[in-house]
Amino acid sequence: MPTTAAIREMRASLSGPTPDETGAAGPVTYRRIVILTGAGISAESGLGTFRDKDGLWTRFDLEDVATPEGFARNPAFVHEFYNARRVNCLAASPNAAHYALAELEARHPGDVLVVTQNVDDLHERAGSQRLLHMHGELLKIRCNACGAIRRWTTDCFETTPCPSCLVAGGLRPHVVWFREMPMHMERIYAALAACDLFVAIGTSGHVYPAANFVAEAAGHTVELNLEPSDRADMFAEAVHGPASLIVPAFVARLLG
Ligand code: OAD
Repeated sequence: MPTTAAIREMRASLSGPTPDETGAAGPVTYRRIVILTGAGISAESGLGTFRDKDGLWTRFDLEDVATPEGFARNPAFVHEFYNARRVNCLAASPNAAHYALAELEARHPGDVLVVTQNVDDLHERAGSQRLLHMHGELLKIRCNACGAIRRWTTDCFETTPCPSCLVAGGLRPHVVWFREMPMHMERIYAALAACDLFVAIGTSGHVYPAANFVAEAAGHTVELNLEPSDRADMFAEAVHGPASLIVPAFVARLLG
């Protein structure tokens, strides 16, 4: 956790135009804020990212564990992969960045919507309520036979029967795999078209459609990331550093 002094120092060192000041007409309160988060926001909670050194996709072939074809080829292996991720997720705790976004939602007078690519539940556990999981949720399971979606915190196997329809072999993680349609896209595009501030946090900008949200966003755009992402030049403003430090500082700036 960053110290109060570290946050104060980070706030003082933020460069570029400040979103809460027009310079002419006094403070601006953003009315509709959309925040996109990626694996980087959960990195300091101990959940690995995908593309950093030692990231998940440096150790696993995503074609094996994150595609419908991989699941069809070897469901046991895919279940094993998500069982291990579920254990890691349950052992992790939200960090200062997750808490800062929940505080922003609670205290900001306008709308705040968090759209996350993360399948962990750390935003919820920190207190975020207006939240869309565009890549699904690790702690849910879906039945291909009956369509039921249930909270799931234990291991799941190829042979596990669906608790709703009792059919075995139909359960799959409730996550979006490559070549599948992300969730909630209509609501997300509507929010982007109406927002006056878009902030992307801890995402590499490798995966579409999320990587293009910065181009869809109607308002001011800010990147908060450890380092410049692939889409860095699309943002009007950027702050680089660890999320647990720069997100609370940015939220403090928005809340005045
Ligand atoms: P990536 O692993 O591609 O990118 C993580 C980003 O977080 C990188 O730009 C890092 O520099 C940054 N980062 C790392 N540690 C950080 C920290 N402490 N503070 C701030 N930033 C940090 O993860 P995503 O962009 O989320 O999709 O990946 C997008 C999608 O690709 C995932 O949702 C997943 C994956 O394949 C599916 O599985 C469908």
